Amino acid sequence: MGPPEPEPLLRMRGIVKQFPGVRALDGVDLDVRPGEVHCLLGQNGAGKSTLIKVLAGAHQPDQGEIVFGGEPVRLAGPTAAMRAGIATIYQELDLVDGLSVAENIFLGHEKARFGFTRRGEAERAARELLGRLGHGEIPPRREVGRLPAAGKQVVSMARALSHDARLIVMDEPSAALAHDEVANLFRIIREVTAAGVAVVYISHRLEEIREIGDRVTVLKDGRSVAGGLPARGTSTDEIVSLMTGRDVEYVFPPRPEPEDGRPEVLRVEELALPGAFEDVSLTVHAGEIVGLAGLVGSGRSEILETVYGARRPARGRVLVDGRPVRPGDTGAAVRRGMGMAPEERKSQALLLNETVAANVSVASLPRYASFGWLSRRRELADVRRQIESLDIRPPDPRRPVVTLSGGNQQKVVLARWLLGSAGLRLLILDEPTRGVDVGARAELYAVIRELAGRGIGVLLVSSEVPEVLGLADRVLVVREGRVVHTGDARDLDEAAVLNMIMEGSAL
Ligand SMILES: Nc1ncnc2c1ncn2[C@@H]1O[C@H](COP(=O)(O)OP(=O)(O)OP(=O)(O)O)[C@@H](O)[C@H]1O
Ligand SMILES: [Mg+2]
Repeated sequence: MGPPEPEPLLRMRGIVKQFPGVRALDGVDLDVRPGEVHCLLGQNGAGKSTLIKVLAGAHQPDQGEIVFGGEPVRLAGPTAAMRAGIATIYQELDLVDGLSVAENIFLGHEKARFGFTRRGEAERAARELLGRLGHGEIPPRREVGRLPAAGKQVVSMARALSHDARLIVMDEPSAALAHDEVANLFRIIREVTAAGVAVVYISHRLEEIREIGDRVTVLKDGRSVAGGLPARGTSTDEIVSLMTGRDVEYVFPPRPEPEDGRPEVLRVEELALPGAFEDVSLTVHAGEIVGLAGLVGSGRSEILETVYGARRPARGRVLVDGRPVRPGDTGAAVRRGMGMAPEERKSQALLLNETVAANVSVASLPRYASFGWLSRRRELADVRRQIESLDIRPPDPRRPVVTLSGGNQQKVVLARWLLGSAGLRLLILDEPTRGVDVGARAELYAVIRELAGRGIGVLLVSSEVPEVLGLADRVLVVREGRVVHTGDARDLDEAAVLNMIMEGSAL
């Protein structure tokens, strides 16, 4: 017998949550100790976000009990959960874009009603919290909608800290963060856990779990298949096979040999968007995958957006198949054969209340429009094929996208461009595997490579350097708005790229 088990801060038993047609949680158990980082792992759709929404008071469980701080609790709504001492940072951030940073932090706060008499006071408190998070540069008065994804994440964090919570739940907090920002997030997590606060941490990145996690609970199909495993003492193979019920080979599709003489589908000449990037020139050939590596804020997403016409450059040209594309006009870009899957799928890419079928076929509508009801059937059949090849779950084309798990929503965005690939010349992907589980990543990589195999050029950005190196044929390293290196992916390794990204010591 070892030492007695410490009394858990949170004990969830037999939690069941049924949605129409889906039993998202089918009897989940979870024990969380004070001061620990408890990681929740599972494939896309396993039930992680649903479980934490139960904890946040956003969903009412159909069955099961929750004991928090030794007392049975009923978390009747978000306010009840907050009062009990549970703060949540959601996967899809729930900030109000039109309000300021400070207003978002103290939204619905008791202090907002009783404590702060003046706006200045709330702003001072906001500044202090942001400073604690290492982001004193974010102005409390700035509208949240104008912050980049990583900045929104920080505001969300500040809001959680503002509640003096005993448990902070984080649903994929690192998905939008760059390398150094993740380090900062971990510093904050260590700080709060040292003070006895428990953290429930969801991530698809196993290396993060090893670094920050104490214990792990694995969910599969709405059940806990393993509870409280040691985060560092459990092998990756074991975790992955618990998650998937099979052994997954975590591999990239083979690269075809580079061919000479393939036509250029994209040529970017000395493109500049002052404040974001300068003098960017690059080419993508038919069938080639070109990856941009760089930190969030290095200008990489802005480069993609400008190529796609979502931003108007100050200088420079974008050419597709040798002909210039009208700058700052996404309509022109699409007509010339560009497709883009943006970074923030929720606000930029998906019609959330529409069905999977509507979202997948939206880019190919002209193809289905001309033949009346017959083409509807063909559309549905095509959509079903995409659902199957990407393993979108549940495999139901008529389900509203808003009810899909985060990773499955990401697959819907990709399915759209697969289906619309008939006239596609260049596919632009910003963080294509953000939120996608390890099992499904390999499938996505294969799909991207297959598209390239059809002669489409692919230009992608990923924060995960191994992904850029494993998937791309050619890699461009971007630092502070400039391309500092261009080369064959085979000639680079992770350390070299990280070095160029961070320090700037060119090799
Ligand atoms: N509001 C809802 N209505 C209907 N079904 C839902 C709803 N929310 C979630 N689901 C379903 O419940 C299941 C679990 O989803 P959940 O979002 O909890 O998964 P997850 O483990 O967080 O996945 P991911 O890693 O992709 O974020 C999925 O099948 C999802 O489609
Ligand atoms: Mg989720």
